Amino acid sequence: MKAISIQNINKYFYDPVEFQVLKDISFDVKKGEFVSIVGKSGSGKSTLLYLLSTMDTKYNGNIAINGTQVTGLSQNELAKFRNCLLYTSPSPRD
Ligand SMILES: Nc1ncnc2c1ncn2[C@@H]1O[C@H](COP(=O)(O)OP(=O)(O)OP(=O)(O)O)[C@@H](O)[C@H]1O
Ligand SMILES: [Mg+2]
Repeated sequence: MKAISIQNINKYFYDPVEFQVLKDISFDVKKGEFVSIVGKSGSGKSTLLYLLSTMDTKYNGNIAINGTQVTGLSQNELAKFRNCLLYTSPSPRD
């Protein structure tokens, strides 16, 4: 099972000038795998994590999380997806 699968991610910022921050990024993270993202300041680590949070949908490429392709989902569908993903039971028995 892949926890995260990202394929051919390209991300641009346009303000103050056009700037490509993520260039054709692809990788998979398997369930249970521990991953570090390392890079110098300004290399795009936070930008990538923000895309993985599903809060930023302005990118090219594909992102799947726990087998769900999140790329292309509506804002409502993404909100439901985040609720399910982040749900933690208040009781350990639930
Ligand atoms: N909202 C934005 N609009 C325009 N440019 C941005 C925006 N957010 C980030 N950037 C630019 O994108 C590049 C990557 O920024 P990002 O914050 O992802 O880097 P980082 O690897 O997390 O850096 P740090 O190690 O300092 O946290 C930087 O050049 C930054 O100035
Ligand atoms: Mg950062």
